[in-house]
Amino acid sequence: MKPLKGVTALVTSGPTYEPIDPVRFLGNRSSGKQGHAIAEALRDAGARVTLVAGPVAIADPQGVAVQHVTTAREMLAACEAALPVDVAICAAAVSDWRARRVSKQKIKKQGKPPVLELVENPDILRTLSRSKSRPSLVIGFAAETGSLLKNARAKRKAKGCDWIVANDVSGGKGFDAEDNAVTLITAHSAEPWPRMSKQHIARTLTTHITHHLKERV
Ligand code: PMT
Repeated sequence: MKPLKGVTALVTSGPTYEPIDPVRFLGNRSSGKQGHAIAEALRDAGARVTLVAGPVAIADPQGVAVQHVTTAREMLAACEAALPVDVAICAAAVSDWRARRVSKQKIKKQGKPPVLELVENPDILRTLSRSKSRPSLVIGFAAETGSLLKNARAKRKAKGCDWIVANDVSGGKGFDAEDNAVTLITAHSAEPWPRMSKQHIARTLTTHITHHLKERV
């Protein structure tokens, strides 16, 4: 049985790389394992899935429309182009900032270290949550190194999404790992899930999405 047949979904996955010069960038250690696993679980449940993936070393999932991007601004453009969808899940670790100026030449050592001026990147999750074509269910992730539930609840409100999957990424946890321990936060509840593989998290989240969409029919 395919419980999400006829449902469209958008998933972001992996890091973004924000260039500093032709060879250097600002980035992070997201592998894309979690976002890609969510795309696969939604596909297996029958959804038509668009996966917007930052630079990752893992293979594209089969049976999913994959858009490859590098920067946050490219990721936002690809997400907006994928609208309208029924469900959006933002699992990507998007760089909050980018360099104001990208040097055309490789920056040379010149006595003093260069000073990088940063500007804020667009917030993709917040943009999708406020879009005129807002998906009926918008889910974000919160990667925190302290005060997990308090910060994740605040993030859910600030970004305007429906649910937040909170994960503690202190001490090397979460990023590029095979498993994770997450808490699903909604407007009314915080449900801690036991540590499990990222595939299992993806399937559990898909089950919650299925129940939620059924309740709305
Ligand atoms: O990729 P893996 O190695 O499998 O690791 C999985 C993960 C740790 C990356 C994943 O579980 C996770 O936590 N993803 C979100 C990482 C993150 O950047 O969290 P955040 O708390 O900084 O951002 C909150 C939310 O806003 C996220 O849904 C993020 O996608 C979104 N965001 C953030 C900044 C921005 N400019 N645009 C966004 O859409």
